[in-house]
Amino acid sequence: MKEFNDLASFKPEQIVELLRLAKQLEESPEPRALEGKVLALLFLSPSLRTLASFQAAMTRLGGGSFVISPNMSIHGLETRPGIVMDGVAAEHIREAVPVIASYGDAIGIRAFAERRNLEDDLDDKEYMALRELCDIPLINMESAINHPCQSLADWKTMDDLEIPANGGKFVLTWAFHPRALPLAVPAATVHMAAMRGMDVTVLRPDGFELPDSIMHKARKAAAASGGSVEETSDRASALNGAHVVYAKSWSATRHYGDRPADEDLRRGLENWCVDESWFDTGADDCRFMHCLPVRRGVVVTDRVLDGPRSIVIQEARNRMYAQMAVLHKMLGPTP
Ligand code: CP
Repeated sequence: MKEFNDLASFKPEQIVELLRLAKQLEESPEPRALEGKVLALLFLSPSLRTLASFQAAMTRLGGGSFVISPNMSIHGLETRPGIVMDGVAAEHIREAVPVIASYGDAIGIRAFAERRNLEDDLDDKEYMALRELCDIPLINMESAINHPCQSLADWKTMDDLEIPANGGKFVLTWAFHPRALPLAVPAATVHMAAMRGMDVTVLRPDGFELPDSIMHKARKAAAASGGSVEETSDRASALNGAHVVYAKSWSATRHYGDRPADEDLRRGLENWCVDESWFDTGADDCRFMHCLPVRRGVVVTDRVLDGPRSIVIQEARNRMYAQMAVLHKMLGPTP
């Protein structure tokens, strides 16, 4: 495997094989599988889980890793193309990435959306430019429009808990947040659940519709898997019969890049905070999922998050096993 950028780049059976390997590595550790291998981790955006789980994954497989981020004591890092570097930044990403890559056997890159231009972010323009600078295997640790490691871990979590694939109802719901957040997780999640064969409903207030290209990609995956994808603002119908409520906030796509207009639109939507009443008409064992970090009392109530429906810690833990499988395929003895 040369790249892990998008679940859509893989056949369903390849994803199933990765999930099988993740389970195998969870149950039968291979502490020498990546002996002598080095993973370079470039974080242009903040992280807790991704950073810790990749380092833990490499260590558990016998390899090593190093982290570079602008918050460390490195030279100021310039990312804008074609800029005259007469300001604070002393190093350009065009040199930094190849240098970092030259120390590793694979590289992971995190670069969140700039959230200025929707088309650029949908095209993953910044990440694709960074990808061109890498000549070693590359892992997307969250770009403007994708978070494949989160999706693989979420898929594994649902498999672990035997949440139905075909016939399972997956509700991806927008949730209130004081800030406009990227589209990466909702875009990756709607596609993942559709690829898994679930009946996916995207629930969101008006103005927060997911862009056509994201929905088209998910519908294509659903057509192949036997699942379905729909979008609504009708909370009651969306939650009826749900097996999973996956909460995430995202930017108002109607006013993408326009912060005051986004703030105006989300004002009054504070009741989009998942509480127990959201599960009244769901399946008996309907689960609550979130990629974390999550704002308590804003996105979801303490009672849901601390209660038996919540599987957010399992999702976070599975990041490590899912990434161990990716690294094993990329750098290890697995053909
Ligand atoms: N879910 C996730 O990617 O978490 P971090 O942003 O903490 O890495």
